[in-house]
Amino acid sequence: MAPTLILIGFMGSGKTAVGNYLARGLGWDFFDADPMVEEQAGASIAEIFKQEGEAAFRRAEEGVVLGLLDEADVSSEGTVVSLGGGAVTIPAVAERLRCEPLVFLLDEDVNRAYARARRSSRPLARDADEFRRLYAQREKLYLELARYVVDTKENDVKTVADEIVMVLRRLGVAGIA
Ligand code: S3P
Repeated sequence: MAPTLILIGFMGSGKTAVGNYLARGLGWDFFDADPMVEEQAGASIAEIFKQEGEAAFRRAEEGVVLGLLDEADVSSEGTVVSLGGGAVTIPAVAERLRCEPLVFLLDEDVNRAYARARRSSRPLARDADEFRRLYAQREKLYLELARYVVDTKENDVKTVADEIVMVLRRLGVAGIA
């Protein structure tokens, strides 16, 4: 079975950038859950939140994430999967993550994360205090579900990806020289 590496972390922690870079370097497939939800819904995340509400977004997200992880499980290629920041709050996703051996948390400083996330159309990054509150609410869950925590503070995409590859090497993950 080919390895599946899963990136979790708060909005603006760099999951997409690191996932992309990492997958390219490893020659693995890369899947980013958020754009797949958008593609399936035929609407942007901001529109889904506005028109159908967060609960509808989470239902769609659950289907996409579990489907992705099932596919990765049977793939003959290594896979990097980047999850949306709130995916960990979906009980079925959290339960699934507890069984996955390569769950990496990108641990970013909340203020740096906000500086990045606020420039986007993310519906849950509209207000700094709300953003920090949400982070505080989720922090424990991220740490609980992560097998490995990578400090992204002060670190660029390459440094973070290199650190993850070092862990994979140490673990003797197949396909890592
Ligand atoms: C969310 C994070 C976003 C996206 C949605 C909700 C969250 O993904 O799924 O806006 O609840 O933390 P990113 O973490 O990729 O920004």
